[in-house]
Amino acid sequence: MANFSNDFLWGGATAANQVEGGFDEGGKGLSVTDIQTAGSVATPRYLTYTLNGEVHKSVSMPGGGLPAGAKGTVLADEYYPNHVAIDFYHRYKEDIKLFAEMGFKTYRLSIAWTRIFPNGTESEPNQAGLDFYRRVFEELRKYDIEPIVTISHYEDPLALSEKYNDWQDRGMIDAYVKYATTLFKEYKGLVKYWLTFNEINSALLMMSTFGDGGDDADYQHAYQKLHYQFVASARAVQIAHEIDPANVVGNMICGIVYYPGSPDPQDIMLNRYNWEQNILYCSDAQCKGEYPTFAKRLWAEHNVHLDITDQDRAELKAGTVDMYTFSYYMSNMVTTHDTDDKVGGNFTAGAKNPYLQYSAWGWATDPTGLQYYLETMYDRYHLPMMVVENGLGEVDKFEDGTVHDDYRIDYLRQHIQAMDKAIENGVDLRGYTTWGCIDCVSAGTGQMSKRYGFIYVDRDDQGKGTLARYPKDSFYWYQKVIQSNGEEL
Ligand code: BG6
Repeated sequence: MANFSNDFLWGGATAANQVEGGFDEGGKGLSVTDIQTAGSVATPRYLTYTLNGEVHKSVSMPGGGLPAGAKGTVLADEYYPNHVAIDFYHRYKEDIKLFAEMGFKTYRLSIAWTRIFPNGTESEPNQAGLDFYRRVFEELRKYDIEPIVTISHYEDPLALSEKYNDWQDRGMIDAYVKYATTLFKEYKGLVKYWLTFNEINSALLMMSTFGDGGDDADYQHAYQKLHYQFVASARAVQIAHEIDPANVVGNMICGIVYYPGSPDPQDIMLNRYNWEQNILYCSDAQCKGEYPTFAKRLWAEHNVHLDITDQDRAELKAGTVDMYTFSYYMSNMVTTHDTDDKVGGNFTAGAKNPYLQYSAWGWATDPTGLQYYLETMYDRYHLPMMVVENGLGEVDKFEDGTVHDDYRIDYLRQHIQAMDKAIENGVDLRGYTTWGCIDCVSAGTGQMSKRYGFIYVDRDDQGKGTLARYPKDSFYWYQKVIQSNGEEL
């Protein structure tokens, strides 16, 4: 007998910039992702911009910003996969119908900030953008699908990011709060679940991905950005509650489980450091409303000096989140010893764990890690939880109008079993939204060929294809899982 509650929210998740396309339609302004090129497992994505009158490209990570003084530019001879993405902007009715056919109880989506405030600085919102999401939410309500809305998912307005150098100025807090307040007022009664920032800890995770951990200036930038985001998030939580006490606001953490590579005490310390810096620092700030004791040590290590006021500290305390949500794809083994067997996800770099299988993109499949994460975080915060991203990015073979993706079914089955165990052990888990429930552009590599969906979309890495949608085998499997409330896996 499975342990999922009768009102458990089964569904899927996407982000505006990875599905919508229509990047310059309906009055939308440019976001940082609109100047991100396509990459691959071997080639990084780049941001394209001009600096001191010259065209530049620099390696870009999901959520990263431009160098100071740069002006983001769309270049005529580059391919930007997010510009069309999978054209959800025009096809949302068809897609929501397919989600409903699977029996979705919820759909997690994000709002493109630049549809609502094209540059982030306007005093009035863009009506066409507000209308678009109203239509989407009404369509979801038609099928009794509860929206979970990420307010900011790696798509800061380019103009704001340039002006405030990627969250290095308090002006960014005000811009975010104005945007979030507009959403809470506009969609009162249509949306109740809100997530303030997608994978807020990505600012710090980026450091470990680059191996050497970045220099002190990078850490100063990341910690200051995070502080302003924590304050923005805390204010948004308070305003959401004032506007509608029924609102439930969550954080959203990139949930990576760290393991030490050996019993060497240096590895144990490194492992602790990864948990502290990459997971608990952000989780504590948003769930406890204060920085953990170890924050002082982390800042000192990189000579970080933050602009934090007493008012900020009071805001953090007053605006703690109502639920803990996170993405979970993999664990990561860290070691101080040399290793030839290095692997990495979009935000991880570690040693290969001999007990785990890896995807073609080097992501470890580790369902036990999900159980561990759920139980550990529940015990620390005692907040209701949701797994708002999970899934396997793989190359799918499209044949006879479908994909036989038993590998994806296996991955998801194991993770659902892990959630079931965590619930049995006492975790208050309320929902599960698999990532990229319909194939979409990869955030890390910009590829379409890295597919997560239950629904195949005919589009390739060069932007060719009809954009037609086809249910995969996993579509019918997930339909059964939802129908049986997690009983039939
Ligand atoms: C998370 C992001 O990091 O992982 C998503 O929130 C992203 O936006 C997902 O798409 C999967 O990563 P990727 O790089 O395979 O798209």
